[in-house]
Amino acid sequence: MKERIRITEVGLRDGLQNQPGLVSTADKLRLAGALVNAGIRQLEAVSFVHPKAVPQMADAVEVTAGLPQRAGMDYMALVPNLKGYERAKAAGYRHVAVVLASTDAFNLRNLNMTLAETEATCQEVIRQATADGMVVRAYISGAFSCPYDGKTPVSVVHRLSEKMLAAGASDIAISDTIGAGNPQQVIDILKPLLARFDSALFSLHLHDTRGTALANAWAGIECGVRHFDASIGGLGGCPFAPGATGNVATEDLVHLLHEAGFDTGIDLDALYHAIAVAETITAQPLGGRYAQWRRSQERRTAPQPAVCAPQDQRT
Ligand code: COA
Ligand code: ZN
Repeated sequence: MKERIRITEVGLRDGLQNQPGLVSTADKLRLAGALVNAGIRQLEAVSFVHPKAVPQMADAVEVTAGLPQRAGMDYMALVPNLKGYERAKAAGYRHVAVVLASTDAFNLRNLNMTLAETEATCQEVIRQATADGMVVRAYISGAFSCPYDGKTPVSVVHRLSEKMLAAGASDIAISDTIGAGNPQQVIDILKPLLARFDSALFSLHLHDTRGTALANAWAGIECGVRHFDASIGGLGGCPFAPGATGNVATEDLVHLLHEAGFDTGIDLDALYHAIAVAETITAQPLGGRYAQWRRSQERRTAPQPAVCAPQDQRT
């Protein structure tokens, strides 16, 4: 039997939050439907942040109410503080994610808190959520590099990971928010962690800003990571991390993993269809390299328009 890799689709939250134009609730639900039809079973749907900070997430309650329900479906919401947590709980979530960036500068820009304040807030939310019986992820944002302070020391990522695990987090998402990481950094961060903790406690959240996401994902696989985030069509970016572009495209990661003999439970053809839905709702061309290849194949095999023979032209 093939080994299963967990994919958390983050296009609806991480992907859409950076879109300049507001996407309607109905369109977000259309995309969620296409992703669920493709076999996505873990999906970060919304964030409960201040609507002034991220206007795209202002309809989080309405989106949540309309999400397609399927057996085994696991929807997650990002929460920046206790207020966001209470909103997520009231909306019905059983899985939330807290976020802490690696530096003061990034946390101040993102959450209006220093790193120490963010750590304390995350611990508080994790403790409350676990007491309520919820599953909690902790994103370590800027784990490879901070958009303001440069390369992140591995020791910082280890310290924050250990602190969030001690508070009760069940998944540490090591996040390359600005897509500046390289495979050696993946190894340097994850090898020591996986030597001490269960690999199921860690996931990789990779952006593809500089084209290194798949190489980084594979370094994660070699280290023993079996859970990755991805975003349909490579949608995304972070409004508080200048220059950040989308996550690794879900279709690229799924294709790579299937080719390498892993199972994801995701139907690549149906996922390819979901890219078209994402393009329609964001009115922008999307798709990673796999989608580009599929399109070139389609162009090659499409029926060519009839060309008149020279004698026809003479008549
Ligand atoms: N959702 C909605 N409103 C919230 C909130 C939340 N999670 N947290 C705080 N607020 C409200 C408070 O109730 C208060 O409202 P009032 O003025 O009507 O009393 C107001 O926001 C200010 O509260 P404060 O605690 O001082 O928040 P802040 O202004 O320091 O902002 C955050 C902090 C975290 C709410 C804001 O920076 C934020 O939403 N950041 C999210 C950034 C993001 O989404 N980044 C990408 C994902 S990592
Ligand atoms: Zn991200």
